[in-house]
Amino acid sequence: MGTNLEAKSRIDYLRLLLEQHNSNYYEQDDPTISDAEYDTLFTELKALESQYPEFKIAQSPTQRVGGKASGKFPTITHSTQMLSLDNVFSEQELQDFITRIGELLRLPDPLQKTHFCAEPKLDGLALALHYTNGKLTHALTRGDGITGEDVTNNARAISDIPLTLQIDKNNPTLQKIEIRGEVYMSKKTLTELNKIQQENNQKIYANSRNFAAGTIRQLDPQIVADRKLNFYAYSAITEQPFTDSHYRMLKLLSLWGVPINPETKHLRGIKQLLNYYQRIHQKRSKLAYDIDGIVYKLDNINLQQIAGTTQRAPRWAIAHKFPAEQAISIIQSIDIQIGRTGVLTPVARLEPTIVGGVTISNATLHNLDEIERKDIRPLDEVFIRRAGDVIPEVVKLVDPNRTPNSPPFTIPDNCPSCANPVTREQQQAHFRCTAGANCPAQLYQSICHFISRKAMAIDGLGKQRIQQLLEQKLITNAADLYTLSQEQLSELPKMKEKSINNTITSIAQSKNTSFSRFIYAIGIHEVGEITAQNLAQTIEAQISSPPKEHSQKCLDALLSISTEQLIDIEDIGPTVAQSIYQFTHKQENQRFLQQCLDNGIQWKKSTINTENQLLKGKTIVLTGTLQSMGRELAKQKLQALGAKVTTSVSPTTDIVIIGENAGSKATKAEKLNLPIWDENEFLKNINQS
Ligand code: IVH
Repeated sequence: MGTNLEAKSRIDYLRLLLEQHNSNYYEQDDPTISDAEYDTLFTELKALESQYPEFKIAQSPTQRVGGKASGKFPTITHSTQMLSLDNVFSEQELQDFITRIGELLRLPDPLQKTHFCAEPKLDGLALALHYTNGKLTHALTRGDGITGEDVTNNARAISDIPLTLQIDKNNPTLQKIEIRGEVYMSKKTLTELNKIQQENNQKIYANSRNFAAGTIRQLDPQIVADRKLNFYAYSAITEQPFTDSHYRMLKLLSLWGVPINPETKHLRGIKQLLNYYQRIHQKRSKLAYDIDGIVYKLDNINLQQIAGTTQRAPRWAIAHKFPAEQAISIIQSIDIQIGRTGVLTPVARLEPTIVGGVTISNATLHNLDEIERKDIRPLDEVFIRRAGDVIPEVVKLVDPNRTPNSPPFTIPDNCPSCANPVTREQQQAHFRCTAGANCPAQLYQSICHFISRKAMAIDGLGKQRIQQLLEQKLITNAADLYTLSQEQLSELPKMKEKSINNTITSIAQSKNTSFSRFIYAIGIHEVGEITAQNLAQTIEAQISSPPKEHSQKCLDALLSISTEQLIDIEDIGPTVAQSIYQFTHKQENQRFLQQCLDNGIQWKKSTINTENQLLKGKTIVLTGTLQSMGRELAKQKLQALGAKVTTSVSPTTDIVIIGENAGSKATKAEKLNLPIWDENEFLKNINQS
């Protein structure tokens, strides 16, 4: 931030945005941005406020908790303020937090020796339950932290919330007890209820928190009962403390019949906290409910009281959030990338920004329809997302009401690489350059595909080298790679002897391949690995010539295959058949394929024993999430055993494999009385072969 004035205007802007989002979240239960996006804005505002303390104000969203009451329920003042939690996002920040508590409380060696109670941070809504002589008397939402809404009748309809505590009624300390915790909705319930909402043409909830929050504010407790909310307690308040350890307090609550999170742990020292964080992070997707981090609380309740609270959060607890996979960046320009099949993909060139620990400078914008729908233009401030290995993408504008600083993006009439006309296929989102290998960009992409790991696997060559080889006219197509000499390679910049030798060796090694890899490598539109395997298998099954002639016979058969024959092959429909036919009947492609063989590419007949295929001819549907492997790998394993994997359940389906959180397909399979495999059964069967 350059000047104070700029900082002030950014602070005002962020406050306004956050206020609007707070109202959407707490009052309408209808947020328009994700928690990660909210955290990004919040963290930026907090950082600016600490850098420019002169602009700090008590009314800032960083200083307050929650939203206004809806007016539907009577409001009651909380016994003590219902606070929020401060967040940390990194190991360093966690270390700073512990060091801070250590200094505040004069703890010896705080990083190694301090005891904490750790729990997953549930993504639900806070509820305070008041019990008198063990009976539930009232239940309050958090509201603005000072007063909450009285939703007692609704709390009674949540089966996890005990109406009576199993406590010693003669213990005066427990006569009045307030239990605070989180109401949440399981992922499974969210899916089931959204399905019903959809059938009734009602609002679909983006996440379980919103659904839970919307439910707790229903006026009819029967609706609450039907929506199967859950509850986990995270603290208890009594006039006199009944234990000195937070962890023991939660264990006692559990003894009294109040559910606490089974992952709750008593830990000592930062190392244990970080191990716990990693373990739960890895387990996150398998948990039955949504969480967005870990909460660590100083275990010693006396020390908690000494540490006290700030206006907004306790000093003795912290939320360690899982890394945001979203961040804010600015679009510097929108460029067009041309894929190997000629599709024009708009790409956002971004101000380099760290997302989940990785610097992102480019993000896909998918296609023109997407850009128009999101109204994304150069110079816009946008949320960007990156989840694991997924290609980074632009999610949306930070401020949908901004005044644009540039005209809307358009797709050019001519290909930016070869200047040939760009066409849009009917009812397709994509624009395409149809110049094929005559378009330098497509040629480059198709050679990159040709050398890739699942294709010819030439690992001694990278994309940059391909670019150089093309620029220096040392190759004009992928087949030319096989005639490259050491002298030619030495013309490339920074090519040392060792890497020249490696490249020559890896090109030579790739000559011995399989027919299916070769088919995949030549990059026929719509032909992926599996289709290539099916096509290769079908052709090879019909060929019985001496090994020396095998590759040539396969190629001849591929070049003369008819669309009727193609349609008969597993997984190949009319569109794919047409695409293969068109490719193999173009003279220039035929020349290229022959050149590949003439330059030494060859393969032996593959030895798949189709007789032993355990699932031969079976139609199988996969639904839900498998713990042991991704859907694509599971599909490939089934196909290798001869199964046909389809997406919709019908009476002709032979087996339905059901993973976690399976939805309507599982219900349909049950209704149709189809054989169902769970994950164990699936693993047993694929491992038998
Ligand atoms: S402890 C005094 N433990 O997160 C603070 N809070 O963002 C007591 N939350 O207001 C909070 N899971 O509603 C605590 N295991 C957990 C939690 C948890 C979710 C909520 C809670 C809090 C909010 C702060």
